[in-house]
Amino acid sequence: MNLEDCRRLDAEDPLAALRDQFILPSGVIYLDGNSLGVLPRTTPDRIANVIANEWGEGLIRSWNNAGWFDLPQRLGDKVARLIGAGAGEVVCTDSTSINLYKVLFSALSQAKAAGNRRVVISERSNFPTDLYIAESLCREHGFNLRLIDESELADALDEQAAVLMLTHVNYRTGAMHDMQAVTRMAHQAGALMVWDLAHSAGAVPVALNAADADFAIGCGYKYLNGGPGAPAFAWVHRRHADRFEQPLSGWWGHAAPFEFSPHYRPAPGVGRYLCGTQPILALAALDCGLDTVLAAEALAGDGDGMAPLRTKSLALTDTFITLVEQRCPGRFTLVTPREHARRGSQVCLAMADRAPGAYAIVQALIARGVIGDYRAGDSQMPDILRFGFTPLYIGFEDVWNAVEHLVQVLEGEEWMRPEFNRKQAVT
Ligand SMILES: Cc1ncc(COP(=O)(O)O)c(C=O)c1O
Repeated sequence: MNLEDCRRLDAEDPLAALRDQFILPSGVIYLDGNSLGVLPRTTPDRIANVIANEWGEGLIRSWNNAGWFDLPQRLGDKVARLIGAGAGEVVCTDSTSINLYKVLFSALSQAKAAGNRRVVISERSNFPTDLYIAESLCREHGFNLRLIDESELADALDEQAAVLMLTHVNYRTGAMHDMQAVTRMAHQAGALMVWDLAHSAGAVPVALNAADADFAIGCGYKYLNGGPGAPAFAWVHRRHADRFEQPLSGWWGHAAPFEFSPHYRPAPGVGRYLCGTQPILALAALDCGLDTVLAAEALAGDGDGMAPLRTKSLALTDTFITLVEQRCPGRFTLVTPREHARRGSQVCLAMADRAPGAYAIVQALIARGVIGDYRAGDSQMPDILRFGFTPLYIGFEDVWNAVEHLVQVLEGEEWMRPEFNRKQAVT
């Protein structure tokens, strides 16, 4: 594969025009949209308008007149189109961590009401916040948290299993679960299924209703381009929608908040996952981000925007893997699964033979404008160089150039310079 091949792939790319939706700094190849998405072109004006007109002029009238009040539900309906959910089944609110707390609490309450099962199962390699939240909820509510490796899943799902809580695409390896098969396995064992879609929404096709999952949450600032700390989302299957319990029973989740009743009466459906007054500026920015992903629908023959995005994402990650193996032979091992069905939208590399340099190579690349990131290893997992490929704004020539920089960083031993070996707070 060579530069001409990459240019040809760009010329043939049916999604190439989507890149114009973003403000991308010149000289940057951004391979970190799996951590923080880029700025949509529409966001600055939208925020300026919300501030100057909706807030400045409309003041409190804007809760009704500018559609502020139902923004969490309207954005939820947009997210629903990306994750195989129905209208009215998703709300955008709070952070991923807080939404996980809420949905896991709902699942534990339901398990308690149903019987004596008292085990929550998750993966040791899950994102830490998921494990910390599960740990504290289990402690408070008399459950045990059982951490396993993927290969132990079938055995772990025993008669004690109340909830299986997994992240669909692993943050560190980019490995993806088969949502349908795993959910079926959980249900056959009598457990509820909770999915974290932080690295899936807007990145890979997701079919929550088809998989028959129970609860899901996901992130607004990664592939959905909602901006740093953007509101996250929560989904609940219709069969639970009018009976699940919400632990943060604030007035915005009340059936009639403006009755100001002294007693809590939950709103029907997923609306009860709202807690207090919603962050309108942040929701407006998320709205712009969601539109950048939904724009792919117009380019797809059947209106399913995630299908062409997935095709391009796989072609990008395939290209990166091929070029790294071709041009840096023996330097890295591939941590992300090679099989398409098991791969998210990122590629993770480890140093071959546990050679040093993972952190410094990422820093040297960032200094050259190729922005990926680094995730420290542990006893089970090597240090990781992580590269996210967002098909909305990454092209094949970008992939070629990123690998060319990597080759130069390695050949010139640039990564050995002291400034690239000094650890910063955010890696
Ligand atoms: C899989 C996963 N879950 C949860 C989170 C936490 O999200 P937040 O810090 O926005 O609550 C992250 C953050 O990167 C993540 O990757």
